Amino acid sequence: MSCKRGLIIAIDGPAGAGKSTTARRVAERLGYLYIDTGAMYRAVTLAVLRAGIPIEEEHVARVLPHLRIELVPSLQGQRTLLSGEDVTEALRLPEVTRWVSLVSSFPAVRRFLVEEQRRLGRHGGVVMDGRDIGTVVFPEAEVKVFLTASLPVRARRRLQELRAYGIAITEQEVAAELQRRDELDSHRADSPLQCAPDAVVIDTTELTIEEQTERVLELVRQRLCNTRPESASSCAEPE
Ligand code: DC
Repeated sequence: MSCKRGLIIAIDGPAGAGKSTTARRVAERLGYLYIDTGAMYRAVTLAVLRAGIPIEEEHVARVLPHLRIELVPSLQGQRTLLSGEDVTEALRLPEVTRWVSLVSSFPAVRRFLVEEQRRLGRHGGVVMDGRDIGTVVFPEAEVKVFLTASLPVRARRRLQELRAYGIAITEQEVAAELQRRDELDSHRADSPLQCAPDAVVIDTTELTIEEQTERVLELVRQRLCNTRPESASSCAEPE
């Protein structure tokens, strides 16, 4: 018998809305485990690119059983290991970003990773960010957040992140890439990026990281005290 030791907090939304930073901070404050599921899709994509196989579902499905993806918490956030090698930086390469939406649209890949995500979160005490956490991975999550922000703001934030990784790219290129990926992620047949009807929408365009972290923590407190979120807009009842 397993005993739940904390809530499941699902944070979904488009690329660059601040999900990872917010999720990591919320997890730190609560002493929860932070899981960046995008890194898992990126790790599969990196493995596929390195293997040089055609990026088609039947070929990709064949390599899945041979992949060992490990998520290791560290002071700087989650490190991702692929068959023992730390690939955290490599996951941000433009080549990986270019192909990850296609790879993550394959149902075989989603089945493989969703099973692992459910295993990682089954005891609770986790903050998981992605595109389908509140809709597919943990529809029963106690706290569901959908983070959004305007495209220019998302592009600026992503640009800073990429430059920190030493990747040379312009703001226009980043914006075009974000738009292309949002389009693919929102329109794929299997578990597209969608706001769960019971998720609380937080627009981070005008918010600082501390403010967005505090808004999520407030939802957690309300959930723990069994009160309804005050003045929060959900996907089911738009503002
Ligand atoms: O969060 P990110 O930008 O690192 O995610 C990379 C890609 O992985 C994203 O474009 C779509 C996919 N993804 C997904 O399909 N489902 C998730 N739960 C997380 C990411």
